[in-house]
Amino acid sequence: MSGLVVAIDGPAAAGKGTLARRLAAALDLAYLDTGSLYRAVALALLRAGSGRPDEATATAAARRLDRRLLGDPALRDEATGRLASMVAAMPGVRAALLDLQRDFAAHPPDGKAGAVLDGRDVGTVVCPDATVKLFVTASAETRALRRHGELAGADAAPSLARVRAELVSRDARDSARATAPLVPAADAHLLDTSDLSIEEVFARAKAIIETARTRRS
Ligand code: CDP
Repeated sequence: MSGLVVAIDGPAAAGKGTLARRLAAALDLAYLDTGSLYRAVALALLRAGSGRPDEATATAAARRLDRRLLGDPALRDEATGRLASMVAAMPGVRAALLDLQRDFAAHPPDGKAGAVLDGRDVGTVVCPDATVKLFVTASAETRALRRHGELAGADAAPSLARVRAELVSRDARDSARATAPLVPAADAHLLDTSDLSIEEVFARAKAIIETARTRRS
């Protein structure tokens, strides 16, 4: 039987990354933040002075993805997130990043018995056969507050209203695109985290995974 794969999708700043990291640590699974791949493509383009790339340019950047960028602090900048969501709407870019993500799920690094991947299309496109699919959401207000808090330490931190507007416009673009739009898989468990603590979200997700694991064995 192939390893345990947990797919976590949802809109920007819904708490996917925090949940995915905790689950991976608790269950001893490998973790891939698929959004960081799109962000790395965007950052490479920004650094090359290509802030409005056409699809051929963006696809070429995705094909020669420099993994060192995955640890770059500028990955989390608003401008990087905005361009990430623009290039993520391009089919060529998505195709260039697909095998890498599928390979991670099928052959998790460091001898781990499975993997947790978070993003927008993990349960629908990247790993349609995932053992467990979670769709994590929260109200735009809650998500804006969380992201604003994360960015607060940075130089030139944006206002709460601006953070909210950025999230809403990025979600609209991610949901409306033709290729791999942000949409819950039919068999995803929905988790609205607006009124839940990190601890509560973690406990619920873990219970869902334990149930799925028991069914599989
Ligand atoms: O951390 P945050 O939720 O703000 O976003 P992210 O997960 O880092 O993703 C940045 C952007 O990459 C998203 O707005 C999507 O446009 C794109 N993305 C995607 O299209 N598919 C994925 N599996 C992950 C991210």
